Amino acid sequence: MEEIIGVVGAGTMGNGIAQVAARAGYSVVLRDVKDEFLERGLSAIDRSLQRDVDKQRLGEEEKRAVLSRVKATTEMDDLAGAGFVVEAVTENFEVKAEIFRGLDRLTRPEAILASNTSSISITKLGAATRRPDKVIGMHFMNPVPVMKLVEIIRGIATSDETYDRTRALTERLEKIPLECNDSPGFVSNRVLMPMINEAIFALHESVAPRESIDGIMKLGMNHPMGPLTLADFIGLDVCLAILNVLHTELGDPKYRPCPLLKRYVDAGWLGRKTGRGFYEYER
Ligand code: CAA
Repeated sequence: MEEIIGVVGAGTMGNGIAQVAARAGYSVVLRDVKDEFLERGLSAIDRSLQRDVDKQRLGEEEKRAVLSRVKATTEMDDLAGAGFVVEAVTENFEVKAEIFRGLDRLTRPEAILASNTSSISITKLGAATRRPDKVIGMHFMNPVPVMKLVEIIRGIATSDETYDRTRALTERLEKIPLECNDSPGFVSNRVLMPMINEAIFALHESVAPRESIDGIMKLGMNHPMGPLTLADFIGLDVCLAILNVLHTELGDPKYRPCPLLKRYVDAGWLGRKTGRGFYEYER
């Protein structure tokens, strides 16, 4: 049923999802609003596959075949043939809801519409469509080609059949699906973001310099990256948006975003993608 996978949004998550789907043998339609976003997404896929070619885990020809399975487009209508669509655009409910309404109009009635949202309600996105039983959360982790987890989120109306098809697809992408219910931040960000926020508070209150905060968590807890490095990697705007969802929806002051995080986002210091966050990066 899901021979053609649609991916909406060619950013970090979208191009990663397109890559793993094409690598698993699916035809992929990757849609974004501008050609330059698509070009950037396709070159990220190329670079990521090249790592595997260099490490002799993928042949040149196989790489070309994977790339040829990704069709990039600015037209929403090109998603009409997809049996399964994953939306991976900006973390803004109105923007996502508009896309879901459009997908609902143009795809076949049996197509599943999934969101890679990290914190927006799947139930609310489902309610924007006439097929809430076929709307589900499929939360990939960054970097998508490396990370094994996909958090699968069931909205209140998501059917068992939709869940089963989504789980089966996730496994075909060689990922591990873990299920959770629709609640702000799901499990991943409900646990991760307070840790990152607390690290930012520790910096804000001069408990330790950034290198010590990260080093303590990295060496002491065996995390692959310290929390400030991880925040830069995720994007400080994304971290702030998720904390705002947790704070507003759960209403508990423990989720209050650290003022330093807000200040960095106001300054446009969004982490790795802008060359500056808690650390400085070459671009
Ligand atoms: N594409 C493809 N492969 C990549 C990659 C990318 N973008 N980035 C790294 N890799 C691969 C490397 O090729 C390498 O592969 P092998 O070991 O098989 O040769 C492997 O990943 C390790 O990479 P490096 O040696 O370059 O660097 P590293 O050991 O420091 O690992 C990392 C990099 C995988 C990113 C690691 O630091 C890590 O796991 N960090 C934590 C990531 C994390 O927590 N992600 C979740 C963020 S939260 C989220 O995504 C959800 C949300 O809602 C906010």
